[in-house]
Formats: sequence, structure tokens, C-alpha cells
Amino acid sequence: MTATHLRLLSAAACLFATAAAFAAEPRPPFTPPSAAAIPDNDFGRAVREGEQIFLHTPQKAGKFVGNDLNCASCHLDAGRRPDSAPMWAAYVLYPAYRAKNGHVNTLAERLQGCFRFSMNGKAPPADDPTLTALQTYMFWLASKAPTGVVLEGQGYRKLPPPAQKADYVRGSEVYAQYCAVCHGAEGQGQKNGKHWVFPALWGADSFNWGAGMHQIGNAAGFIKANMPLGQAGMLSDQEAWDVAYFMNAHERPQDPRYTESVAATRAKYHDSDDSLYGIEVNGHLLGSDSPPSGGKLTQAAAKAGG
Ligand code: HEC
Ligand code: HEC
Repeated sequence: MTATHLRLLSAAACLFATAAAFAAEPRPPFTPPSAAAIPDNDFGRAVREGEQIFLHTPQKAGKFVGNDLNCASCHLDAGRRPDSAPMWAAYVLYPAYRAKNGHVNTLAERLQGCFRFSMNGKAPPADDPTLTALQTYMFWLASKAPTGVVLEGQGYRKLPPPAQKADYVRGSEVYAQYCAVCHGAEGQGQKNGKHWVFPALWGADSFNWGAGMHQIGNAAGFIKANMPLGQAGMLSDQEAWDVAYFMNAHERPQDPRYTESVAATRAKYHDSDDSLYGIEVNGHLLGSDSPPSGGKLTQAAAKAGG
């Protein structure tokens, strides 16, 4: 075989590998190491620090967090659970191109987005110790996982399109029956004293309009696989779509990328059926009455400014 043949063969193998990695199949299973295996050394201490930030985000990274969610509110079991966008599966897929901002994102930049949108806060600098600790935790969770391979349980589940168009009234019934007991009748969540027990699903204390969870498809996939907590899997696909629609048909903090008007912001960032931002539901234009983005951080800045 000539050198040219070999080059062609290895180019073909490369193409094949890329296609295989990003096609639906096959998705190898992976189990992250247990917390007990975190090494007892300086590296291990950084892993633990990342885990603690992941579990207690407002307490451990308060200057970047505007709400009371933790990373683990949406990435269950400290970012371990399959089908809740587990961190071991994410780690091996970065740097990655993202349509959301139209360029290749490093993992640090991806995490900055989580703070800005899901945590309704602000992006830590790329070299901030908070991001280093989170990345160290993720790297460790992904120990011995193959790089660039979509692992089983990565991301949130993609449900097939609903048989009936997702519906607010049906969603409100699912919500009342299965969700309100923990997340509150008004989606406000529940506190025990100062400590949050059940996170808010909409309103001022929730994720903002720029967060991935405001997209109905992401929310439906997350809810179907993970909620009601402790009884996951009991909702039909249709119920998951309906309740995801209902949840995301409520006001939440403004999209921090807001420009000019709700209509212009929708056209620029939300122009898809997956987002209700800028859509009128029950006579209310969503996004027109949003609390300011930044939550607690914005309030603190306003106070400091007098
Ligand atoms: C309100 C729910 C929510 C919270 C809180 C949240 N995330 Fe996410 N996260 C999502 C959603 C939804 C996605 C996926 C989709 C998207 O953004 O389009 C995601 C995606 C990710 C990904 C990429 C996953 C992959 O497989 O590519 C990483 C990494 C991540 N989040 C880390 C974090 C970290 C770290 C925090 C805390 C600072 C956090 N998230 C807080 C909902 C959340
Ligand atoms: C038994 C209490 C309980 C029930 C019932 C429940 N949840 Fe949750 N939910 C939680 C907890 C606790 C979390 C945070 C996960 C964690 O900290 O482990 C959560 C997280 C969430 C999140 C992501 C975090 C956020 O605030 O956005 C969404 C979305 C959600 N639940 C939706 C629902 C929906 C929809 C239902 C009804 C189908 C539901 N939940 C039923 C307890 C519950």
C-alpha cells in the first residue's frame, strides 16, 4: 500500500469517526467515579471545591449569581445523573461550536453562559478560580471517558414532537396535580427560613429568558426524565410538553441580551417555536413585564449606587 493510500484511508477513518461521534448511534455508557474516590491531595481539593460550587452556587460563587438556583437544580445528583445534562458527558464535548453565539466555545465560555442566563447572574472572568474549580470537577467526573464521543445520557432527552400542540390549560392541570406541591402554586418555589428547598420555576427568582431551560423542548425533555422529583417517568410525553409550555408561558427575568424592544429581541434571539418570549399568551406579551435581569446582583448594585 502506498503512502497516498494510507493517507486516504486515515482521512476516511477520521471522517467516519466524526460522523459516528455526532450521529445518534452508538452512545457508549459511562459511569463517573464515586465521590469517595476524590484523591486526598491538592488536585482533589480543587475537585471538591468545584463540587461544592456546583451544589451550593449562590453561597460559593455569590458574586456571579443573581437567583437562588444551584447548578445541581437542573443537573441532578451533583451533575452525575444521565438525561439531566450530566457534567461527565459535557466535559468531553468541548470546545464546541454553538449556534447560540455562532462560534466555537471553550468549556470556560460555556460555563460563563450558565452564570449569565441560568443563574441570572454575570459571567465570571474566564480565568476566575470559580470556573477553574468547576472545570476541575468536570474533568475528574469524566475520568477515563473517551473524548469527543456523545455518551449515553448526555444532554437532556429529546422527546418526539407532541401529538397535540402543547397547551396552556392542559399544562396548568398537570402543574396543579404533580408540581405545585413542591414548586408552589405560583411557581415561586419554597423556602425553609432563608434556605431554598424547592427552586422557583418562573418569576423573579428563576432563570432568565436567555437560559436554555426557557426553551420548551429542553424543559419538556428535562421534566419527562426527572420530574416530579422521586417519581420521574410518570408523565406521558404529552403531559411533559404541556407542563413545559405552561411553565415557560410565565414571566421571568429579562433576557440580558435585550435590545430595543421585546419584538426586536425576539427577532434576534428567540425566533423559533421553542421560545414564547415576545409571544402573547392569555392577553399578556411575554417579556414585556419581566423583572430586570441580574436579580440580586442588580438589586445590590442599585443599593450601592444610592
Ligand atoms: C435552570 C436550569 C439550569 C441551571 C440552574 C444550570 N443549567 Fe446548565 N444547562 C441547562 C440547560 C437547559 C442546558 C442545555 C441546553 C442549552 O443551554 O441550550 C444546560 C447545559 C449545560 C452544559 C452543557 C451540557 C452539554 O452536554 O453540552 C453545561 C456544561 C452546564 N449546563 C453547566 C452548568 C453549570 C456549571 C451550572 C451552574 C453554574 C449550570 N449549568 C446551571 C440548564 C441549567
Ligand atoms: C417532590 C418535590 C418535587 C416535585 C413534585 C416536582 N419537583 Fe421539580 N424540582 C424539585 C427539586 C428539589 C428540584 C431541584 C433538584 C435538586 O436540587 O436536586 C427541582 C427542579 C426542577 C426544575 C429545574 C430547576 C428550576 O427551578 O427551574 C424544573 C424545571 C422542575 N423541577 C419542574 C418540575 C415540574 C414541571 C414538576 C411537575 C411535573 C416538578 N418539577 C415536580 C422538586 C420537585
